[in-house]
Amino acid sequence: MVDVILGLQWGDEGKGKIVDYFAPQYDIIARFQGGPNAGHTLYVEDKKVVLHQIPSGIFHQNTINIIGNGVVLDPVTLKRECELVASFGIDVKKNLFIAQRTNLIVPTHRALDRASEMQKGESKIGSTLKGIGPSYMDKTGRNALRLGDIMSKSFTTQYIKLRLKHQKLLDNFHFIDDISDWEEEFFEAVDFLRTLNIVNGEYFINEEINNGKKVLAEGAQGSMLDIDFGTFPFVTSSNTISAGVCTGLGIAPQKINEVLGVTKAYCTRVGGGPFPTELNNETGEALRKIGNEFGATTGRPRRCGWIDLVALKYTVMLNGVTKIVMTKADVLDSFQDLNVCTAYTIKGEQTDKIPFQLMQTDVIPEYKHFTGWNCDTTGLIKKENLPDAMQQYVSFINQYIKAPVSYISNGPQREQIIKI
Ligand code: GDP
Ligand code: IMO
Ligand code: MG
Repeated sequence: MVDVILGLQWGDEGKGKIVDYFAPQYDIIARFQGGPNAGHTLYVEDKKVVLHQIPSGIFHQNTINIIGNGVVLDPVTLKRECELVASFGIDVKKNLFIAQRTNLIVPTHRALDRASEMQKGESKIGSTLKGIGPSYMDKTGRNALRLGDIMSKSFTTQYIKLRLKHQKLLDNFHFIDDISDWEEEFFEAVDFLRTLNIVNGEYFINEEINNGKKVLAEGAQGSMLDIDFGTFPFVTSSNTISAGVCTGLGIAPQKINEVLGVTKAYCTRVGGGPFPTELNNETGEALRKIGNEFGATTGRPRRCGWIDLVALKYTVMLNGVTKIVMTKADVLDSFQDLNVCTAYTIKGEQTDKIPFQLMQTDVIPEYKHFTGWNCDTTGLIKKENLPDAMQQYVSFINQYIKAPVSYISNGPQREQIIKI
């Protein structure tokens, strides 16, 4: 049986904290897509930890963590992360497993990401520049190196062949940076990877499922960044939605049980692209300041705005969400007035559907207004104690998106979560 936790907005919904909270209920936590573009924040022994590739269940001694074949893996980042996790006394050689079909990010992928973004100029995606796009392009273009390849005697030859191919592309971009330092640390990290548990991910996970083990699939990014259904081209290069769990781990759709969708009580986006409810004013500033909305991977300020129920209803549909986890509700504690977007007006017509090209469409968001709750909710532990105004806000969202908000997260710490 497999449950899923994934983001319903443009990423950074707080998935890391929520996976860490639920991890003790599962035997296995499995990342199914994305790569080091993700930054999942959790608190361990009161210390803030940001994970990029290792699943957020790693700090639970009895939980197995798997990096699935749908991930693009940067050996250098992984080595660093393993060292970080080891500093908390966690033995990654015991409870971290990586699928051999996982595609590798090589140094020239990072160079290509930079070159491509530079060439785009004003219309750049705002990529995290971790090599995600070029690496997935090599996967679908059938050129990629995969983790299992590092065990082959011909790995270096295969690597050089791929680098030459990339070099030609980089020459076209007039990219002349020296990547020899990146290469040195890449090969050091590949040596380290050889000491980890590299497994046949699809057999491994299916055997565990057949033995009655409970799996939690952890998504990265958010559904509005999905390569097919997100705000293309301002998206990432993988399927971030629940369908990606099957291809990213090698499990059949009927094995999926609950899909927990994580959304903030408001909305943020980092990087370029459309964001209809964005607030370019002091309210947006206040959300950024109170919510500490700065990218966990790049440190960039996140764009902030009101919750967008048009987008949320869409992503609930795409994912088959069974339960909603609403995070960062406490960030709204001091706001007198709140708005939720219930429709878009496009060319004078109201719609509750996401248009084909959100970027090229003039969208006026329509709002329903709510009075804020104006009290500190960070210490609450029971749903009965939630302020009335918050209950009204949440119950409106429930009705609109037709999925129940089943948990409210009221602070960054593991125990700051209320079951509804
Ligand atoms: P992820 O990528 O979805 O895991 O989210 P990030 O870690 O990038 O960003 C979420 C940020 O919000 C992190 O700094 C978390 O520590 C923090 N956070 C998560 N849940 C809550 C919450 O309920 N309240 C507050 N105030 N912060 C939260
Ligand atoms: P987590 O898992 C928020 C955004 C980037 C950029 C676009 C493409 O922490 O929620 P890429 O590096 O994939 O080529 O960037 O996607 N993006 C994220 N935004 N959270 C993330 O991950 C993101 N991963 C990528 O800012 O706009
Ligand atoms: Mg993040």
